[in-house]
Amino acid sequence: MAESTEQRTPVPLDLMGELRRTHTCGQLRAEHAGRRALVMGWVHRRRDLGGVIFLHLRDRDGVTQVVFHEDVAAGVHARAEMLRLEYVVAVEGEVARRTPETVNASIPTGEVEVVAERVWILNESRVPPFPLDEFAEIAEDVRLKYRFVDLRRPQMQRNIILRANVSFAVREFLYSRGFLEIETPFMTRSTPEGARDFLVPSRITPGSFYALPQSPQIFKQLLMVSGYEKYFQIVRCFRDEDLRADRQYEFTQIDLEMSFPQQEHVFEVIEPMLRRAFEVAGFSIETPFRRLTYEQAMRSYGIDKPDLRIPPFHCVEDLFAGAGLSAEGLPLAAIHIPNTGSPSRKERDEMKAFGQERGLRVYDDVKRLDRDFPEQMAKVRERSGAGENDLLLLAGWPGEKKGHRPEETVLLACGQLRLYAAQKYKDRHKLFDAKTFRFLWVVDFPMFEWDEEEKRWNAAHHPFTSVHDEDLDKLTSDPARCRAKSYDIVLNGVELGSGSIRIHRRDVQAKVFSALGLSDEEARKKFGFLLDALEYGAPPHGGIALGLDRLVMILAGESSIRDVIPFPKTARGTDLMCDAPSAVPEKALRELGIMLKP
Ligand code: AMO
Repeated sequence: MAESTEQRTPVPLDLMGELRRTHTCGQLRAEHAGRRALVMGWVHRRRDLGGVIFLHLRDRDGVTQVVFHEDVAAGVHARAEMLRLEYVVAVEGEVARRTPETVNASIPTGEVEVVAERVWILNESRVPPFPLDEFAEIAEDVRLKYRFVDLRRPQMQRNIILRANVSFAVREFLYSRGFLEIETPFMTRSTPEGARDFLVPSRITPGSFYALPQSPQIFKQLLMVSGYEKYFQIVRCFRDEDLRADRQYEFTQIDLEMSFPQQEHVFEVIEPMLRRAFEVAGFSIETPFRRLTYEQAMRSYGIDKPDLRIPPFHCVEDLFAGAGLSAEGLPLAAIHIPNTGSPSRKERDEMKAFGQERGLRVYDDVKRLDRDFPEQMAKVRERSGAGENDLLLLAGWPGEKKGHRPEETVLLACGQLRLYAAQKYKDRHKLFDAKTFRFLWVVDFPMFEWDEEEKRWNAAHHPFTSVHDEDLDKLTSDPARCRAKSYDIVLNGVELGSGSIRIHRRDVQAKVFSALGLSDEEARKKFGFLLDALEYGAPPHGGIALGLDRLVMILAGESSIRDVIPFPKTARGTDLMCDAPSAVPEKALRELGIMLKP
C-alpha cells in the first residue's frame, strides 16, 4: 500500500471562480443524454488507456463516469493525465449514453457518462493512506488517525448518512407527538448515573469544577416541574467509564420525559418511534414489543438484556428435588442450544471450565444423566424442546448461597454459560441472523443493587426512580425485594435504552435517599435543587433515554459504535487524529489554579 507521506508532482491548480455545479455525481440518468452537465467531486478511480482516460468522479451522492478523449479536446485530455486518486475536480461536458456493452449496471448512473470538454483541477491530494474501496481491511488505528479520509469510504458514508436520517426521523416523529426539543446545560454539576464525571475546572473560582452531564436526567425532570409536559433532546452525554465496543466517553441519547404518564404511554411513544427509525434503514418491525419482567428474564435467560434469538434456558430444579445437583432452594438450569451436533471433548471441557469459574457445576454427560434420571430427563427435553442434534447441559450451584439475592447469583452465572455456549456455535450454526430484530421490554427491575465493595445498596437505575406502590413499605425493611417502576428496551441482547416513572413527591424521595444510605445533608448537597423543586408542585412524570449510537450501530449492521460516530475515541480513550487528550501550557494550568504533581 502506498504511504500517505509519498509526494506527488505538484500540478498547477485552477480557481473555483464562478463555477456552479449543475448535477451531483449520483444524479445523471439516461434521460439526461444530450444535456450539458458540470459535475464536481473527487477522483475515485482512473483508467488511462492512452488516447482515452476514464475517471470515476465521486461526491456524496454517487459516482459518475467521465471520459476524456484526446482527439476531442487535446488540452483537456492533457490536464486529465495529471489527475490522481482523490484530486478534487470540476468537469463540464455533454452527457452521453453509453453503448450497451459498456453500461455499468452496478451504479445508478451506469447508463451514461460525461464527455469532458473542460476540466478544472481544484485541488490535489497526497496518496491516501489506504484504499477507499468497500472491501479494504484497514487497521482501526490508521483509520482513526486519518478519519477525514476514512469517512469518505462508502461504508462510513452510508453509516453517517443513516445516522443523520435516523436522527431527523426521530426528531420529526417526536415533534409530531407534541414533544418539544429543549436544551439543557453541558457545564453543570454531577448527575446521578453512577459513572465517573468528566470535570471542567473553573478559572474564576479556582478549585471549583463543573461536571459534564452523564445525562440530562435532573434537568428533564425540572422541565416537567416547570410545566413543559413533553420534552425531548438528541443530546450528548459524557461518562468516564471503561470503553467497549458499545461504549464511548461521549455518546448521544434520544432523551425524553413526559408528565402524567403511565409506563404504557412511554412504550406507546417509543415503539412507533423505533418503527419509524427502522423504516428509514429499510426494515419493517412489528409492534407492540414483547415484555418480560426482570424476574422472568432472569429465570429464562439469566440476564437483564436477553438476546431472544438464542433459546432460553429452563429452570428444572423442581424435577430433581433431592438429587443434589444444585444446592437446596437454588436453580438448576437446563441450557439448550439447537443444531450444534454433539460437542467435542474439548468443547465440553471448555464449557465446564467456564461454568466452574463462575461457581457452577456443569453436567454435560447427557448419556449418564439419561441413565441416572430417565424420567426427569424426558421432562427436561419436553420443557426445553431439546432434540437429538442439540446441545443440552444442566448447570447447578453446589456451593453455599451467595449474595443478597442468591438465586440471582446462580441465574446470572447460568446466563453467562448460555451465552458462552451459544457463542461457540454461532458461526457454525447461524444462530445470530443480522437481519432479525427481536425487541423486548424488560420491566419491574429491582429497585436496589448491593454494592459489595461499599457494603451498601445502590439505586439499580438511578435514585429518582419510583418504587412499586405495593413495595413502598419495604423500602427500608426489605430493600432486596423492592421493585422499581423502571424499564429497559432491549434489542438482540443490546440494552438500547432505559427509563422509569420518577418519584414526584418529596417525602418518597427522602425515603429512597435514606434507603440508599444518603443522609439528608448529603442528599441536599448533591441534589438539593431537585428536592426543592419537588416541593413546588412537581407533577407525576417519567421518561426514557435511548442510545442513538447503539441504535444506529444495529441498523447499520456494525458491531462497534465507533463505526457510526464520525469522530470517536479509540478503545483506549484517545483521539488519534487531533491527539487528545494532551498536555496544556503551564500558564493555562496556573490560571485555573491547578498544579500537577511531578
Ligand atoms: P442509562 O444510563 O441507562 O439511562 O442510559 C440510557 C442509554 O444510553 C446509552 N448509553 C451509552 N451509549 C454509549 N456509550 C456509553 N458510555 C453509554 N452509556 C449509556 C445506552 C443506555 O441504554 N437518565 C437515564 C434515562 C432515563 O431514566 O430516562 C439514563 O441515562 O443505550
